Amino acid sequence: MKKLFIVANWKSNKTTFEAIQWLKKFTVASSQLTDKEIIICASFTLLPDMKKTITELKLPIKLGAQDVSPYDEGAYTGGVNGKQIKEFADYVLIGHIERREKFGEDDGVLEKKVTMAIKYDITPIFCIQKENSFIPATVKIVAYDPAFAIGTGKPDTAENANKIAHQVKTNGIDFVIYGGSVTSENVNNYTQASHLDGVLPGKASLDPAEF
Ligand code: PGA
Repeated sequence: MKKLFIVANWKSNKTTFEAIQWLKKFTVASSQLTDKEIIICASFTLLPDMKKTITELKLPIKLGAQDVSPYDEGAYTGGVNGKQIKEFADYVLIGHIERREKFGEDDGVLEKKVTMAIKYDITPIFCIQKENSFIPATVKIVAYDPAFAIGTGKPDTAENANKIAHQVKTNGIDFVIYGGSVTSENVNNYTQASHLDGVLPGKASLDPAEF
């Protein structure tokens, strides 16, 4: 059985109280866990208390950040660097369309973020929106999440996502997941596609039952 990455992207949502409530409500049958890596990418402010609760409740969940500073520790006001993130999280989302478009991040800055993540042993989940996108050489996990499918209720087809995953893997990427209007109804189409290794739900991850 292939390994599946089920990656929640909470985006800019939830207070600490709400995040802990989510964790307390989250249940998963151990039979469903075989070969699955469940990752929640949450705001920096939520990560410390989430880590504590995950440990206390022995939940099968890993944490991811939604950003990492392109700089190391030092005089970078507002930057949250890889060394700080590694205290709480093992993964980080880099290159999401919302960062590219709303925060103006380009390939150059995204590559620096990947370098910083790898330096501190944080696995980047590098998001691309189309075929033949720039992917830094050290990246192993790519999320294909096309802009037209994000938050629109209009996902890409599993066939097309699978085709793009295949193309991306020919360039030495180990795992490709799909994001964009994934729900409990359509998730199996993606997880069963031969070249896809999981999903990246946004909206559908905010409710623990749906997730
Ligand atoms: P969505 O977000 O599931 O809400 O469409 C997915 C994403 O941002 O990758």
